Amino acid sequence: MMKAIILTSQGSVDNLRLAEIPVPDIGADEVLIRVKALSINPADTYVRMDVAIDWIFNGETPKILGWDVAGVVTATGQKVVDFKVGDEVFGSIRHPGHGKAYAEYVAAPASHLALKPSNISFEEAAAATLAALTAWQPLTRANIRKGDRILITAAGGGVGHYAVQIAKYLGAYVIALSSYGKRDFVLGLGADEYVAYDRQRFEDVVSDVDLALEALRDDHIARTLAVVKRGGTLISLWAMVQGTKWERLANDLGVNAYYNAVVSNGQDMKALADLLERGVLKSHISKIYPLEEIPAAHLELEKNATTGKIVISL
Ligand SMILES: NC(=O)c1ccc[n+]([C@@H]2O[C@H](COP(=O)([O-])OP(=O)(O)OC[C@H]3O[C@@H](n4cnc5c(N)ncnc54)[C@H](OP(=O)(O)O)[C@@H]3O)[C@@H](O)[C@H]2O)c1
Repeated sequence: MMKAIILTSQGSVDNLRLAEIPVPDIGADEVLIRVKALSINPADTYVRMDVAIDWIFNGETPKILGWDVAGVVTATGQKVVDFKVGDEVFGSIRHPGHGKAYAEYVAAPASHLALKPSNISFEEAAAATLAALTAWQPLTRANIRKGDRILITAAGGGVGHYAVQIAKYLGAYVIALSSYGKRDFVLGLGADEYVAYDRQRFEDVVSDVDLALEALRDDHIARTLAVVKRGGTLISLWAMVQGTKWERLANDLGVNAYYNAVVSNGQDMKALADLLERGVLKSHISKIYPLEEIPAAHLELEKNATTGKIVISL
């Protein structure tokens, strides 16, 4: 048996309950991980609350939130060749789908994992999973050239703090947007320019952007589109673009705008592991909670003011 946080039904954090449930079985392509740390993301809170996203659970019970794990392999399926018992691994598993990461043991597809670099902690590894992939996947597939001007919105949060570092690694000139309180943190990540959205309108000081990574909601995308140059790109992490008024606006402005969704991918995790090992990429963890306090961690994340990542340590 193992401890897990189960979601009794979609709704408030009161529906997240500590339970004793059987350790999961593994499939032929899976490994069993003794979880040492896991991380949480805004999507965990949306899935917790929004019954429209019930499909994530694939009809399975108990419902267990979470995708991001770091831990030690304790068993391997017959077809697994990349990992062995005792390996330290990390990854964002089964996204989109039923990740079941809020538990002491997780059955994880081997194809979603990478070996954890030995020079980083389990907490730092668990942090650099879904949020880091969310930045890595679209930025590395957007044909960024050296010196391109890249705007990172929400630069002080989970995705944003990795995005600033990854964009710098790709040779871009990075303009970062956050609240003033995160100024030193964001500049410390390597941003070339910094704008405090609570001190001035970023449109007044930012223009001619080659690529914008837009993580904010509602009509923020319209404001960001206005600073992207004709022929430039906007990648939305929140608002759908295709077939919407944002697509029409982007077309009018000559901007290539599209939504990108993160997907679990072990090859991308290996690339991130390499950057973490070399110290090119670093996880910043602002708060750590024990498994039992995941409800409090959700409430903290819902303030929409996280610096770096919130991690759960087991
Ligand atoms: N498409 C995908 O696959 C995908 C995957 C992961 C996440 N996302 C989305 O990406 C967004 C960010 O995720 P996350 O994990 O980074 O969230 P997070 O860790 O909670 O960070 C959110 C950040 O937004 C900042 N923020 C809030 N209002 C802002 C504003 N007006 N201007 C600039 N920054 C502002 C907050 O700090 P300050 O206000 O203090 O600066 C905070 O640092 C979420 O909406 C999430 O749903 C999408």
